[in-house]
Amino acid sequence: MDDEPVIISPMMKGPLGKDEVISKKGFVSSHVGKGLGVQRRSNQESSTVGSIVYKEVHGLQAAKRAIQNYKQLKEAGIPVAPVTKIIKRKEDGKDEYYIAMSDLTENDKYQVIEISDVSSQTGLFLDRDIQRRLLVSLAHMHNAGLVDFHPGLSIIIRREPNSGKVHDFVYIDYDNFGDQAFLSRAYHSHNEEKLRDLKTLITATSMPNNPDSLTEDEMWLVYKEAQQFPETQPLK
Ligand SMILES: Nc1ncnc2c1ncn2[C@@H]1O[C@H](COP(=O)(O)OP(=O)(O)O)[C@@H](O)[C@H]1O
Ligand SMILES: [Mg+2]
Repeated sequence: MDDEPVIISPMMKGPLGKDEVISKKGFVSSHVGKGLGVQRRSNQESSTVGSIVYKEVHGLQAAKRAIQNYKQLKEAGIPVAPVTKIIKRKEDGKDEYYIAMSDLTENDKYQVIEISDVSSQTGLFLDRDIQRRLLVSLAHMHNAGLVDFHPGLSIIIRREPNSGKVHDFVYIDYDNFGDQAFLSRAYHSHNEEKLRDLKTLITATSMPNNPDSLTEDEMWLVYKEAQQFPETQPLK
């Protein structure tokens, strides 16, 4: 973790906060940070390096932890942003850190929707295949020892804006994840955290009015089958 390179990206030179705000949220609360939200800087110079999405992070340790989570998720085969880096900038003589990642909209080719907002989107339908892949990814993340300890689940669905077709899903917001050691949780409460993730995912992605999607019982089963440690199976 200590050898995590902190990069000074040429693309991130120039004033921050003048870029496009894509979300008013963004990592550090407005009490602590500068209130930049999540911003996107378009890359006009290179077509091979895409746009960069960045947000504030509270100090180097927090940034490193987010990157460590990112790497663990990636190693566990969870879909994550292709690139995520720590950016260091000198501001008023002080080192300030940001998390920068690939623009998952790919310059607005895709619309990104937080998993918790799926049910409020008209015409957004998740089929069995994507529901299944979401549940398996959650089980794999849990197998790797990580949970999303925040309320909600940091997953976005990407869909094509015109056809409305669902493309895929990607885990984001890597600061929201932690392992048992980081959370200093007892095994028991760590498992409750897993159960909470699972319930959140099922609630967010079940499509009760659609006969072509998984029922909630089927969803539990898909998760259980992909879970590595039988003793952590949630009781229903
Ligand atoms: N890499 C990205 N590419 C495109 N949009 C993103 C990216 N990261 C975040 N966003 C957008 O910003 C929103 C908030 O991002 P998130 O990292 O969850 O911030 P917060 O720390 O406020 O929860 C996401 O729901 C998404 O709309
Ligand atoms: Mg978030």
